[in-house]
Amino acid sequence: MKKLIGTNKKKTSVFISGNGSNLRSLIRYSKLKKSTFKIILVVSNNKNAKGLSYAKKNKIPYLILNYKIKKKAEKKLLYLLKQKNIEIICLAGFMKILSSNFIKKFKGKILNIHPSLLPKYKGLNAHQRTIDNKEKYSGFTIHLVNKKLDSGKIIFQKKLKIFINDTANILEKRIRKFENKHYPLVLSKYVANL
Ligand code: GRF
Repeated sequence: MKKLIGTNKKKTSVFISGNGSNLRSLIRYSKLKKSTFKIILVVSNNKNAKGLSYAKKNKIPYLILNYKIKKKAEKKLLYLLKQKNIEIICLAGFMKILSSNFIKKFKGKILNIHPSLLPKYKGLNAHQRTIDNKEKYSGFTIHLVNKKLDSGKIIFQKKLKIFINDTANILEKRIRKFENKHYPLVLSKYVANL
């Protein structure tokens, strides 16, 4: 029975570029019996990404992709994803934009986490722009990836109050904690309904 649950878990790949705090929490959750996903492959475009240490520590295969020629990189990536029967892709601080050809192949199967209340503050430096505009609230959004940057269907949003002394840095840290808590829960629920 146990084995059956294990084999039914959706085969997931997590793409990162840096810190990997979301990857770490996804790995942790994936080990729980109740998780509906398991992480089969970690992908990074950055060989120095701190997040790679979590893949190593947990003996999860990882791929370091040279993104100089995007077409070539994606070809290699697609080959490996197919070989490993990856069903779901989770972007967690992945700083490269996937081509529409790639996205088409995983329609409805790529999730991203973005540190703002989308549709506000798409793209880079979301926290700084939020603070600069004197917003009262910020948060994060988990959404499906489509051709347009940070514009796919929203699956989950968490709204948090901004305090008077908040800097972009303080806000980022506070929001990140909530990202880490919710990303695995949202992913697990999402894939259970696929
Ligand atoms: C997170 O803030 C996420 O919202 C954004 O990139 C950051 C990744 O953080 N897309 P980490 O590498 O998971 O710590």
